[in-house]
Amino acid sequence: GAAKPVIVAIDGPSGTGKSSTSKAVAAQLGLSYLDTGAQYRAITWWMVSNGIDIEDPTAIAAVAAKPEIISGTDPANPTISVDGTDVAGPIRTQEVTSKVSAVSAVPEVRARITELQRTLATSAEYGIVVEGRDIGTTVLPDADLKIFLTASAEARAARRSGELKGADVNATREALIKRDAADSSRKTSPLAKADDAVEVDTTALTLPQVIECVVTLVEEKRAAK
Ligand code: DC
Repeated sequence: GAAKPVIVAIDGPSGTGKSSTSKAVAAQLGLSYLDTGAQYRAITWWMVSNGIDIEDPTAIAAVAAKPEIISGTDPANPTISVDGTDVAGPIRTQEVTSKVSAVSAVPEVRARITELQRTLATSAEYGIVVEGRDIGTTVLPDADLKIFLTASAEARAARRSGELKGADVNATREALIKRDAADSSRKTSPLAKADDAVEVDTTALTLPQVIECVVTLVEEKRAAK
Protein backbone atom coordinates (compact mmCIF):
# COMPACT_ATOMS: atom_id res chain seq x y z
CA GLY A 1 0.00 0.00 0.00
CA ALA A 2 0.96 3.66 -0.10
CA ALA A 3 2.69 3.82 3.26
CA LYS A 4 3.43 7.25 4.66
CA PRO A 5 7.11 8.14 4.62
CA VAL A 6 8.87 7.16 7.83
CA ILE A 7 11.59 9.38 9.26
CA VAL A 8 14.25 7.75 11.40
CA ALA A 9 16.93 9.67 13.33
CA ILE A 10 20.03 7.75 14.43
CA ASP A 11 22.46 9.62 16.68
CA GLY A 12 25.50 8.71 18.74
CA PRO A 13 29.27 9.13 18.98
CA SER A 14 31.73 7.66 16.48
CA GLY A 15 32.57 3.98 16.50
CA THR A 16 29.11 2.79 17.55
CA GLY A 17 28.37 1.32 14.11
CA LYS A 18 26.06 4.22 13.28
CA SER A 19 26.89 4.46 9.56
CA SER A 20 26.91 0.72 8.86
CA THR A 21 23.66 0.29 10.77
CA SER A 22 21.89 3.26 9.19
CA LYS A 23 22.86 2.28 5.66
CA ALA A 24 21.81 -1.36 6.13
CA VAL A 25 18.48 -0.44 7.75
CA ALA A 26 17.68 2.01 4.94
CA ALA A 27 18.60 -0.57 2.27
CA GLN A 28 16.53 -3.33 3.89
CA LEU A 29 13.46 -1.15 4.28
CA GLY A 30 13.67 0.71 0.95
CA LEU A 31 14.33 4.09 2.58
CA SER A 32 16.68 6.91 1.63
CA TYR A 33 19.84 7.44 3.69
CA LEU A 34 21.68 10.58 4.78
CA ASP A 35 25.11 10.68 6.43
CA THR A 36 25.17 14.13 8.05
CA GLY A 37 28.75 13.65 9.29
CA ALA A 38 29.80 13.47 5.63
CA GLN A 39 28.22 16.91 5.07
CA TYR A 40 30.19 18.42 7.98
CA ARG A 41 33.30 16.72 6.66
CA ALA A 42 32.61 18.12 3.18
CA ILE A 43 32.31 21.71 4.37
CA THR A 44 35.47 21.18 6.47
CA TRP A 45 37.29 19.86 3.40
CA TRP A 46 36.24 22.99 1.49
CA MET A 47 37.46 25.28 4.31
CA VAL A 48 40.84 23.50 4.40
CA SER A 49 41.14 23.52 0.58
CA ASN A 50 40.42 27.25 0.48
CA GLY A 51 42.92 28.17 3.17
CA ILE A 52 40.32 29.28 5.73
CA ASP A 53 41.80 29.53 9.24
CA ILE A 54 40.09 26.73 11.18
CA GLU A 55 40.93 28.46 14.47
CA ASP A 56 38.89 31.51 13.44
CA PRO A 57 35.10 30.97 13.80
CA THR A 58 34.39 34.42 12.33
CA ALA A 59 36.31 33.56 9.16
CA ILE A 60 34.47 30.23 8.92
CA ALA A 61 31.08 31.89 9.48
CA ALA A 62 31.76 34.47 6.76
CA VAL A 63 32.10 31.80 4.04
CA ALA A 64 29.77 29.11 5.41
CA ALA A 65 27.18 29.70 2.66
CA LYS A 66 29.68 29.47 -0.21
CA PRO A 67 30.26 25.77 -0.97
CA GLU A 68 27.48 23.87 -2.72
CA ILE A 69 27.16 20.52 -0.97
CA ILE A 70 25.15 17.75 -2.61
CA SER A 71 24.39 14.43 -0.91
CA GLY A 72 23.14 11.39 -2.83
CA THR A 73 20.70 9.50 -0.60
CA ASP A 74 20.71 5.99 -2.10
CA PRO A 75 21.95 3.70 0.72
CA ALA A 76 23.55 1.41 -1.88
CA ASN A 77 25.59 4.33 -3.24
CA PRO A 78 25.73 7.33 -0.90
CA THR A 79 27.58 10.14 -2.65
CA ILE A 80 28.86 13.55 -1.55
CA SER A 81 30.12 16.40 -3.69
CA VAL A 82 31.28 19.96 -3.13
CA ASP A 83 30.92 22.42 -6.02
CA GLY A 84 30.62 19.45 -8.36
CA THR A 85 33.71 17.61 -7.10
CA ASP A 86 33.29 14.10 -5.65
CA VAL A 87 34.83 14.32 -2.16
CA ALA A 88 33.90 10.87 -0.77
CA GLY A 89 37.60 9.99 -0.43
CA PRO A 90 39.15 13.31 0.68
CA ILE A 91 36.63 13.83 3.52
CA ARG A 92 37.95 10.72 5.33
CA THR A 93 41.55 11.92 5.71
CA GLN A 94 43.12 12.41 9.14
CA GLU A 95 43.39 16.13 8.43
CA VAL A 96 39.67 16.59 7.85
CA THR A 97 38.81 14.29 10.78
CA SER A 98 40.95 16.36 13.13
CA LYS A 99 39.37 19.66 12.01
CA VAL A 100 35.70 18.75 11.59
CA SER A 101 34.71 19.34 15.23
CA ALA A 102 35.94 22.95 15.13
CA VAL A 103 34.18 23.72 11.85
CA SER A 104 30.93 22.00 12.85
CA ALA A 105 30.79 23.97 16.10
CA VAL A 106 30.25 27.25 14.19
CA PRO A 107 26.52 28.19 14.34
CA GLU A 108 26.43 29.52 10.74
CA VAL A 109 27.80 26.19 9.51
CA ARG A 110 25.18 24.26 11.49
CA ALA A 111 22.32 26.48 10.26
CA ARG A 112 23.39 25.96 6.67
CA ILE A 113 23.84 22.19 6.92
CA THR A 114 20.68 21.73 9.01
CA GLU A 115 18.63 23.39 6.27
CA LEU A 116 20.04 20.98 3.67
CA GLN A 117 19.22 18.05 5.96
CA ARG A 118 15.60 19.12 6.53
CA THR A 119 15.05 19.62 2.79
CA LEU A 120 16.37 16.14 2.00
CA ALA A 121 14.44 14.49 4.84
CA THR A 122 11.09 15.98 3.90
CA SER A 123 11.46 15.19 0.20
CA ALA A 124 12.25 11.46 0.58
CA GLU A 125 9.32 9.61 -1.00
CA TYR A 126 9.33 6.49 1.20
CA GLY A 127 11.14 7.99 4.16
CA ILE A 128 14.73 8.29 5.25
CA VAL A 129 17.28 7.21 7.82
CA VAL A 130 19.30 10.25 8.90
CA GLU A 131 22.40 9.63 11.02
CA GLY A 132 24.39 12.17 13.00
CA ARG A 133 24.80 13.81 16.39
CA ASP A 134 21.85 16.21 16.70
CA ILE A 135 19.22 14.73 14.39
CA GLY A 136 16.72 13.70 17.08
CA THR A 137 17.28 16.79 19.22
CA THR A 138 17.54 19.59 16.64
CA VAL A 139 17.32 18.69 12.97
CA LEU A 140 14.23 16.43 13.01
CA PRO A 141 12.61 16.74 16.44
CA ASP A 142 9.39 15.24 15.00
CA ALA A 143 11.07 12.11 13.60
CA ASP A 144 8.90 8.98 13.81
CA LEU A 145 11.68 7.04 15.51
CA LYS A 146 14.82 8.20 17.30
CA ILE A 147 17.66 5.84 18.10
CA PHE A 148 20.69 6.72 20.22
CA LEU A 149 23.57 4.28 19.72
CA THR A 150 26.24 3.94 22.40
CA ALA A 151 29.21 1.63 23.08
CA SER A 152 32.11 1.58 25.52
CA ALA A 153 35.14 3.71 24.57
CA GLU A 154 37.17 0.50 24.22
CA ALA A 155 34.72 -1.06 21.79
CA ARG A 156 34.49 2.13 19.76
CA ALA A 157 38.27 2.55 19.51
CA ALA A 158 38.73 -1.09 18.53
CA ARG A 159 36.12 -0.74 15.74
CA ARG A 160 37.63 2.49 14.44
CA SER A 161 41.20 1.17 14.40
CA GLY A 162 39.88 -1.92 12.60
CA GLU A 163 38.46 0.40 9.94
CA LEU A 164 41.68 2.43 9.72
CA LYS A 165 43.73 -0.73 9.07
CA GLY A 166 46.84 -0.84 11.19
CA ALA A 167 46.12 2.32 13.19
CA ASP A 168 47.30 2.29 16.80
CA VAL A 169 44.36 1.48 19.12
CA ASN A 170 45.53 3.82 21.90
CA ALA A 171 46.07 6.77 19.57
CA THR A 172 42.70 6.12 17.90
CA ARG A 173 41.04 5.92 21.32
CA GLU A 174 42.55 9.26 22.42
CA ALA A 175 41.55 11.03 19.17
CA LEU A 176 38.04 9.60 19.35
CA ILE A 177 37.50 10.62 22.99
CA LYS A 178 38.79 14.11 22.21
CA ARG A 179 36.44 14.51 19.23
CA ASP A 180 33.42 13.19 21.19
CA ALA A 181 34.18 15.57 24.04
CA ALA A 182 34.33 18.51 21.61
CA ASP A 183 31.11 17.42 19.86
CA SER A 184 29.29 16.90 23.19
CA SER A 185 30.37 20.16 24.81
CA ARG A 186 29.84 22.67 22.00
CA LYS A 187 27.17 25.34 22.52
CA THR A 188 25.10 24.83 19.37
CA SER A 189 23.22 21.52 19.24
CA PRO A 190 25.79 19.22 20.82
CA LEU A 191 25.82 15.43 20.54
CA ALA A 192 22.96 14.44 22.84
CA LYS A 193 20.29 11.82 23.32
CA ALA A 194 16.76 13.13 22.75
CA ASP A 195 14.39 12.46 25.66
CA ASP A 196 12.23 10.28 23.44
CA ALA A 197 15.10 8.35 21.81
CA VAL A 198 15.53 4.61 22.24
CA GLU A 199 19.05 3.95 23.53
CA VAL A 200 20.80 0.88 22.12
CA ASP A 201 24.10 -0.11 23.73
CA THR A 202 26.04 -1.92 21.00
CA THR A 203 29.08 -2.90 23.10
CA ALA A 204 28.17 -6.59 23.26
CA LEU A 205 26.21 -6.78 19.99
CA THR A 206 27.34 -7.77 16.50
CA LEU A 207 26.50 -5.48 13.58
CA PRO A 208 23.76 -7.85 12.27
CA GLN A 209 22.19 -7.83 15.75
CA VAL A 210 22.14 -4.03 15.90
CA ILE A 211 20.65 -3.86 12.38
CA GLU A 212 17.94 -6.38 13.28
CA CYS A 213 17.08 -4.48 16.44
CA VAL A 214 16.67 -1.17 14.59
CA VAL A 215 14.77 -2.75 11.65
CA THR A 216 12.28 -4.21 14.13
CA LEU A 217 11.79 -0.83 15.82
CA VAL A 218 11.20 0.89 12.45
CA GLU A 219 8.72 -1.79 11.35
CA GLU A 220 6.77 -1.38 14.58
CA LYS A 221 6.57 2.38 14.03
CA ARG A 222 5.53 1.95 10.42
CA ALA A 223 2.79 -0.50 11.38
CA ALA A 224 1.47 1.98 13.97
CA LYS A 225 1.34 4.95 11.56
O1 DC B 1 29.92 10.81 11.87
P1 DC B 1 31.29 11.42 11.52
O2 DC B 1 32.40 10.93 12.40
O3 DC B 1 31.61 11.32 10.07
O4 DC B 1 31.09 12.98 11.85
C1 DC B 1 32.13 13.90 11.68
C2 DC B 1 31.96 15.11 12.58
O5 DC B 1 30.87 15.90 12.15
C3 DC B 1 31.71 14.83 14.05
O6 DC B 1 32.94 14.79 14.76
C4 DC B 1 30.87 16.01 14.50
C5 DC B 1 30.23 16.51 13.24
N1 DC B 1 28.80 16.21 13.17
C6 DC B 1 27.94 17.09 13.78
O7 DC B 1 28.40 18.04 14.41
N2 DC B 1 26.60 16.93 13.69
C7 DC B 1 26.09 15.88 13.00
N3 DC B 1 24.77 15.75 12.90
C8 DC B 1 26.96 14.95 12.39
C9 DC B 1 28.32 15.14 12.51
